[in-house]
Amino acid sequence: MPDRYLSFTGTAPGRFLTRRLGLPQPAALRRWSPQRPALDGDAVLHLTAGESTAPATGSPCAVVLDATGVRDVDGLTGVHAALHPVVRSVAASGRVIVLGAPLDPDDHHQAAAQQALEGFTRSLGKEIGRGRTVNLVRLTDRAAAETTLRFLLSPRSAYVSGQVIEVGRAPAVSVDPDRPFAGRTALVTGAARGIGAAVAETLARDGARVVVLDVPQTERDARALAERLDGIALALDITAPDAGARIADALPDGLDVLVHNAGVTRDRRLVNMPAGRWSSVLDVNLASVLRTTDALLAAKAVNDGGRIVATASIAGLAGNAGQTNYGASKAGVVGLVRSLAPRALAEHGVTVNAVAPGFIETAMTAAIPLLIREAGRRMNSLAQGGLPVDVAETTAWLAHPASGAVNGQVVRVCGQSLLGA
Ligand code: NAI
Repeated sequence: MPDRYLSFTGTAPGRFLTRRLGLPQPAALRRWSPQRPALDGDAVLHLTAGESTAPATGSPCAVVLDATGVRDVDGLTGVHAALHPVVRSVAASGRVIVLGAPLDPDDHHQAAAQQALEGFTRSLGKEIGRGRTVNLVRLTDRAAAETTLRFLLSPRSAYVSGQVIEVGRAPAVSVDPDRPFAGRTALVTGAARGIGAAVAETLARDGARVVVLDVPQTERDARALAERLDGIALALDITAPDAGARIADALPDGLDVLVHNAGVTRDRRLVNMPAGRWSSVLDVNLASVLRTTDALLAAKAVNDGGRIVATASIAGLAGNAGQTNYGASKAGVVGLVRSLAPRALAEHGVTVNAVAPGFIETAMTAAIPLLIREAGRRMNSLAQGGLPVDVAETTAWLAHPASGAVNGQVVRVCGQSLLGA
């Protein structure tokens, strides 16, 4: 379902009219393409909170503010002083990245100041406009944050804003930057269409051998995609009790990336919801994720250095009327990720993270009634829906072989949705 309002506001009369009426002004986002792989604008501006900043000359494509040393309220003055003179000049679809430090449990002044950076980041994200995004990265080890910063400083993160991402430590892993997944196998569930298909395409673009898993009814589409990507199709209902064993059998060399993307909605308010609608959603979106993850880890089918990326939703974080089943299932995914991540890393060398998409333009959201769909699209800082590729690029960053320091994170791909913000 094309976003006609976005196209309209991209024209001069559309811009004029919508501005006069005080309507949202979404900017066409700059996404990654082989022809234009980098952000538009001048070089990245690196600043440090507390050091004086000269007004920017030109239009930096991004500003990275090092606020890791901020330990008290006075230090926050340095955040204002550093960004105030330059924020206006950041190019359209540019980035502001704030680097923070973990909260110190023994120093409540430091913790207050570092927590303040979250409110700052989220507030700036809501006001900055022109397709620009603002995110906070809490660093423990700067070198381990390289893939994260590279992702955020690229057009691949176009629809990720208002996020707080914690990056720990991990040994360095070197890979071909253009094909980081070369020699690796990635299985994506629910990959015949929508977000899953975009994830499969993106991982294949970056060198992975992809396994396109979907229900047997979609086999034609799954096969066509797998053929195009030089991968393989696996017709399997992920709710089958032996799904994990069948995946392990199909991939005797194991897999390196497991993307739990398959998901369904069966919306109805709780008062009208029969048990079957409840359990079918819980089964696809949560129980099968738990079952297959357990089975594959127990069978050692996820290789050392592997990555698991599960798909949550902002409905699981904020709740949504008519979606008690779906919201419960997606919140369950968040719980799974937070609990399993440290153990999976310690016991299997595998990271576990989640993406939480907001309003993404797919068949799932095309089925939403017009007025609710239009509201859903605009209720975020970027005033538009995301595209499947936005979730796919985020998944590819989390699944990157060198992203071992990113673990247990739930990253929203929602244009900083106002829901549950
Ligand atoms: P979609 O409905 O377009 O595609 C889902 C795919 O999963 C389909 O190909 C379907 O056949 C497959 N699938 C369903 N049940 C399955 C099963 N039992 N076994 C194997 N495959 C199965 O959905 P979309 O929009 O691409 O969503 C993908 C994921 O992202 C889902 O988990 C969804 O909940 C989540 N999500 C989507 C959002 C959106 O705005 N589109 C927002 C938030 C989350």
